[in-house]
Amino acid sequence: MKLAVLGLGNMGSALAHCLLKSGHDVSVWNRTPEKAEVFAEVGATICSSPNDAIAASDFVIICIKSHTETVELVNGLSFSLEGKTICDMSTGDTSDADRLVAILEKQGAGYMLGMINAYPSGIGGDETTILTVGSAGTWDRYGSVIGNLGGKSAHVGEKPAALAALFAGLFTVRQGFMFGMIYGALVCQKAGIPMQVYADQLPATIKLVKDYHDLFARTVPTEDYDNAEASLKVYAMAQEDALKTYLSLNAPADFIRLMHDRTKTAWDDGHGDRQLTSLVQHMTDA
Ligand SMILES: NC(=O)c1ccc[n+]([C@@H]2O[C@H](COP(=O)([O-])OP(=O)(O)OC[C@H]3O[C@@H](n4cnc5c(N)ncnc54)[C@H](OP(=O)(O)O)[C@@H]3O)[C@@H](O)[C@H]2O)c1
Repeated sequence: MKLAVLGLGNMGSALAHCLLKSGHDVSVWNRTPEKAEVFAEVGATICSSPNDAIAASDFVIICIKSHTETVELVNGLSFSLEGKTICDMSTGDTSDADRLVAILEKQGAGYMLGMINAYPSGIGGDETTILTVGSAGTWDRYGSVIGNLGGKSAHVGEKPAALAALFAGLFTVRQGFMFGMIYGALVCQKAGIPMQVYADQLPATIKLVKDYHDLFARTVPTEDYDNAEASLKVYAMAQEDALKTYLSLNAPADFIRLMHDRTKTAWDDGHGDRQLTSLVQHMTDA
């Protein structure tokens, strides 16, 4: 299998080095040619244009500024991409990703888009994740190449929106946690609790987040929300207590109010004895 890496910035260089180390046959190209020179010493074929690199390869990884530049690059090629598979690892929005996929499909090329969840130093790691979407069969053919770059890599669907939605969904988890700490700090500050005391108490609470994940993973994929150890109505009552505390201390209460409103509505609709995670089902059906 012949591979190419187009774009040898920090990330593209890491990808190319990793593939070469894994024993692949790799052609490389970079807009500023000097950055490509070092790859001659490690066995890559240096190409003077994207055309040459793509012509020499079956699977082409592009890692440049963003999807916008990849669309320009692909539009500037002087031959058909029929039979090639193009994998864009550049970051970008979904409209550019859709545009790129449409161009590649029109030319009869396979496509893959990858979201790299790592710094360049993490490329090649067993725990590194690159999430991909791609046209039918591309993961079967080239998933092992992506697996070389990140041991925990996965294929998550065909359409670019799947990648964007997964990013949004996972980002929301991290941001929800961050905003929880921020709002928590505000209510504690109002009560005169030193921020160091609050910060010192967070690790014990963070340990419970693991239990939250276990419960989520056990119940949401199977939609088995019965036999709750702590039921949704118990959470609703605790949220109401917390909401009252925020209000009585005049702390910003919109975050906890949102949680309480959602939970109380599900309780009112008959989910009171179920798991809190049954909110996924309730809010889907609402
Ligand atoms: N670095 C990270 O930690 C990281 C993590 C995840 C994802 N990414 C994504 O990986 C992509 C590359 O990031 P990077 O860190 O490697 O950036 P970088 O070090 O700044 O390198 C940018 C690369 O893009 C090329 N480039 C820019 N505009 C171009 C154009 N119009 N035509 C052709 N090539 C062009 C540059 O070529 P020249 O050398 O000629 O300027 C260079 O090879 C970005 O989309 C980034 O979001 C990076």
